Amino acid sequence: MTGDVPDRLSSSEPDESLIDQLIMSACDVRKRAYAPYSNFSVGAALASVGGEIYLGCNIENASYGATICAERVAAGTARCAGSTDWSVLVIATEGGVPPCGICRQFLSEFRPSLPLVLYDVEHGTHRHVKLDEIFPTPFQTP
Ligand code: THU
Repeated sequence: MTGDVPDRLSSSEPDESLIDQLIMSACDVRKRAYAPYSNFSVGAALASVGGEIYLGCNIENASYGATICAERVAAGTARCAGSTDWSVLVIATEGGVPPCGICRQFLSEFRPSLPLVLYDVEHGTHRHVKLDEIFPTPFQTP
């Protein structure tokens, strides 16, 4: 267990063959990351309930704050394609780290309990967590 991420999901988990496919896709798209400033590449593969897969990688900028995370690229791409019903998001990183606060907020807007799979590219291991387990109180306007 690392930080605030529990070891296991508390309820049903997505199909493992889909997870394997999403892990491969997340690793592939991670190679397209543009991360010359941090040298930290991230790949994300978001599956819809209907089986479509939407990809994202992090894209940095000399104006650091203009950087966009892999998770938000994937979620934005899905949204632009008309996909609103998401089943699972796989995130591939060194260390299998959980998404940043901005991405948690962004994803929570659309599916607060989105199942996440955090894949560690160094060790070839992954762990499951639900978004609302690591982000239980999103910002909402009153
Ligand atoms: N990054 C992501 O793509 N997702 C996250 O959830 C956290 C951070 C990226 C942004 C930046 O390009 C690099 O990782 C280091 O912060």
